[in-house]
Amino acid sequence: MHKPVIKVALLGLGTIGGGVYKVLNKNSEIIKQRINSKIEVAKVLEKNISRCLELGVNKDLIANNIDEIVNDQEIDIVIELMGGIEPAREFVLKALNNGKSVVTANKDMIALHGKELYAAAEDNNVDLLFEASVGGGIPIIRPLKQCLAANHIQEVMGIVNGTTNYMLEKMSNEGLDFDVVLKEAQDKGYAEANPSSDIEGFDAARKVAILASIAFNTRITVNEVYVEGISRITAEDISYASELHYVVKLLGIAKETEEGIEVRVHPVFIPKQHPLASVGDVFNAIFVRGDAVGDTMFYGRGAGELPTASAVVADVMDAARRLNNNVQGLISCTCFEDKPVKPIGKIFSKYYIRLQVADRPGVLASIAFEFGKHEVSLASVLQKHTLGDSAEIVLITHKVQEQNLRDSLEKLQLLDTVHEVSNVIRVEDEEEII
Ligand code: HSE
Repeated sequence: MHKPVIKVALLGLGTIGGGVYKVLNKNSEIIKQRINSKIEVAKVLEKNISRCLELGVNKDLIANNIDEIVNDQEIDIVIELMGGIEPAREFVLKALNNGKSVVTANKDMIALHGKELYAAAEDNNVDLLFEASVGGGIPIIRPLKQCLAANHIQEVMGIVNGTTNYMLEKMSNEGLDFDVVLKEAQDKGYAEANPSSDIEGFDAARKVAILASIAFNTRITVNEVYVEGISRITAEDISYASELHYVVKLLGIAKETEEGIEVRVHPVFIPKQHPLASVGDVFNAIFVRGDAVGDTMFYGRGAGELPTASAVVADVMDAARRLNNNVQGLISCTCFEDKPVKPIGKIFSKYYIRLQVADRPGVLASIAFEFGKHEVSLASVLQKHTLGDSAEIVLITHKVQEQNLRDSLEKLQLLDTVHEVSNVIRVEDEEEII
């Protein structure tokens, strides 16, 4: 039955909640024309009353608790923008179990509890939509689920954390050290309350778990994602990257291989001409390769009040259309397979290795010999700096299995000519370096 007015409740009026409230008001006319129903915010759940009033929310709409919302028969859609796991998960479950569709931007909750929440949505014939959980305002969940549904997706690779992208670009353009750019990112308000979530790659890992689950139709939880952040990247690594015609990016990578799903977040050297290399500032971009479509890329603002609200409100409109057409609950979970995750030791990659070694005849040969014993083949070697009897050398390998590289590095560290393995960074490069 068509409803001329669809009532929604907003849980949380922080940055994104406020943005959603603003977009729903500012664009109410066009929203109404497009879905043929008015969206009305009927209740909000927010402890900060002055925030509600500042946004212009009528104080009669402020609920005292979640039950006032989930027990309200007139509310059809609950928009969860509180963030974090609890009580968001509990509230979302209550809403679904009370027959409300839910729209959320909560990547932490979806990456950890997606299965349970989807099951509740299916049991209750309602929808669970989360476009804003990955890539903020960039359309990526719906494109993967719908527009690219005819493909076998082979690879999803992207910059899904704006803070670290900003930091790496700043290090690269200005030759600055990690600590200096972290301070700048914090001063600008980019880094989240806990900077380790961004810089150690956990924020990106949650997003990649969601993308991989959708792309490969198998449930990948955040705990299965291999994660390394950017805190060990130095100005030296960035400068070598540039000299070798690469840029350093923190990438989320998910690939389907015969031995299982590769799903990882770590810094990567990518060629300067790669489409992801030119993604600067706090922008995000997600590259998707499908067997029919070929290569596609989705680019835009991965965070922020209005970009994220753009995705949330579009989901609300979709949920409203589905309600009006009486097709709620028909977009069920697409994780209908159970594919194994490939251990990191089994992946194949090229590697950049920066070593401090004794500057003596025969040292390079002994290092190459140790690599050779583990089937690690070297593609190029650079030696630039010498300090006392110590020389810094940089090696790029051919594609090798990661476990072989790890074994060889373990043995190398035992050589008295190897003073330090300063860094090892994967190189994502389809061409071989001569
Ligand atoms: N902190 C994230 C970023 C945005 O820097 O991209 C929220 O996921």
